Order: sequence, then structure tokens, then C-alpha cells
Amino acid sequence: MEKKLQGQIAIITGASSGIGAGVSKALAAAGATVVVNYPVEAAKAAAEAVMEEIKSSAGLGITYQCDVSKEGEVQKMFADVIAQFGTVDILVNNAGLQRDSPFQDMTLEQWNTVLGVNLTGQFLCAREAIREFLKRGVVPEKSKAAGKIICMSSVHEVIPWGGHANYATSKGGIMQLMKSIAQEFAPYKIRVNSIGPGAIKTPINHTAWETPAAEKKLLELIPYNRVGVVEDIGAAAVWLASDDSDYVTGITLFVDGGMTLYPGFSTNG
Ligand code: BGC
Repeated sequence: MEKKLQGQIAIITGASSGIGAGVSKALAAAGATVVVNYPVEAAKAAAEAVMEEIKSSAGLGITYQCDVSKEGEVQKMFADVIAQFGTVDILVNNAGLQRDSPFQDMTLEQWNTVLGVNLTGQFLCAREAIREFLKRGVVPEKSKAAGKIICMSSVHEVIPWGGHANYATSKGGIMQLMKSIAQEFAPYKIRVNSIGPGAIKTPINHTAWETPAAEKKLLELIPYNRVGVVEDIGAAAVWLASDDSDYVTGITLFVDGGMTLYPGFSTNG
């Protein structure tokens, strides 16, 4: 396989499980050295298992603990990675969580936890990445761009989601964060894009697909008639990180089996 990301250093946040783990494996298979970030001690073993799998396929990388909602921890992670590997070429701003609640019962803690990780975490990591990209500039042997940021958004950056107001708000915010910095830094050859996954089989949404009845109901929202897998997102991330997408910045690439096509309207309206 052609290694489109050979020699590039990629930080993937929230990579001990789910989409982050899948994206880490895909980027490593494409030749990147991956930093598999995990948030807390309790996720360490899972992150190490991801790294084991990467290394067993001749991939390169390390695990790194850092809570992306904490400014000091994010700054230390970037400083340590740059000290060890020389630079960062790719940031996948993936860490995200849900704290679902009917709106009238939503606590400030549930609100702040989701906005802190999903949105502030993306701001803090993107800012450190941009600082490094600006300092280093383009290295033509590695990439046509000075750096690439991929924000993990969701179909819920455009589809409202009752019972998940904090989560949908964070994803709507990511859309404007992504577009604003894509616009600000395109002249510096920095590309910033999002992936908007639909329903992907991961721990975050297991109740939505783990029984046949739940999966059947979920499929009503997916015209392509299958629930996504992390490999669907990994392939999109490799494309957005590679020079194959060199003329692409400021977009959300929905990888959702048509969920954003509002399938309810195919027989109604
Ligand atoms: C959420 C999942 C959900 C999917 C589609 C994702 O962003 O994290 O829980 O299944 O959107 O609604």
C-alpha cells in the first residue's frame, strides 16, 4: 500500500476507543507516527492495546495521557511530542463525549463537561497545532501543507437533537471554529476540515444498535441501510490528512450513510 502519510507526526485525541482508535490505526497504516491520546489513567490500558495493535502491523507511535479540556495539559502534550518527534504535522481533534439529559433537568456540570471536552478541547489543541504549523511552515518533502487539522464533528452540527442540547451545541460550535480558523490560516497553507460522522458503531452510542430491535429503528434514519464502522471514518481521515485533498479546506465531510438527507421526507412532506 502507498504510504501517503509517511514520516508525518499525528496527534489523535480521545484515541483509546471508538472513532479515535479507528482513526489512529488508519493513519498509522498510512505511514504516520501516531500519538494515541487518552484522557485519564483509567483509559491507559485501552490506549496501550490500540498501540499494541498498531505496532503489530509495523506501525509507529506512542500513547499519551492528557485531558484536552485542561490548557496546561494540552500545552505539555504538544511540547513533549514536539521535543520527542521534532514537530506535529496532523491533529485529529477527536475527543468527545455525551452527557445526555432532558433539557429541563440538564445540570450545569453536564453542560460544562460536554462543552469543555468537545469544544474547548478542540480550541486548545487546534491553537497549539496552529502555533507549531506557523513556526515550521511547509516542508515540501512531507506535504504541500504546513499542517492539517481534522475536527471530529457530527451530523449533529446540522441536525438538532432533543435530549442532547449540550452535545448538539458543541458540534454546532465546532463547525464555526473549524470554518473560522480554516479561513484565517489558509494563506499559511494550513488546512482545517471536519468529519461529520453519522451513527458509527462505538461505545458512545451502543444502546442505539446493540439489540436487533434498536438497530432496526436506527436504520430508519440511514438511507444507505447500514450502521457505520470506524473504518469508514478512518478512510476519510487519511484522505483529509493527505495531499490528495490538498485543495480542500473549511468543509465538513459527512460520513453518514445519508443521515443528513432527512430520510423521513422520502415518504412524507
Ligand atoms: C453521536 C451518536 C449518534 C450519532 C447519530 C453522533 O455524533 O455521538 O451517539 O448515534 O451522532 O445520531
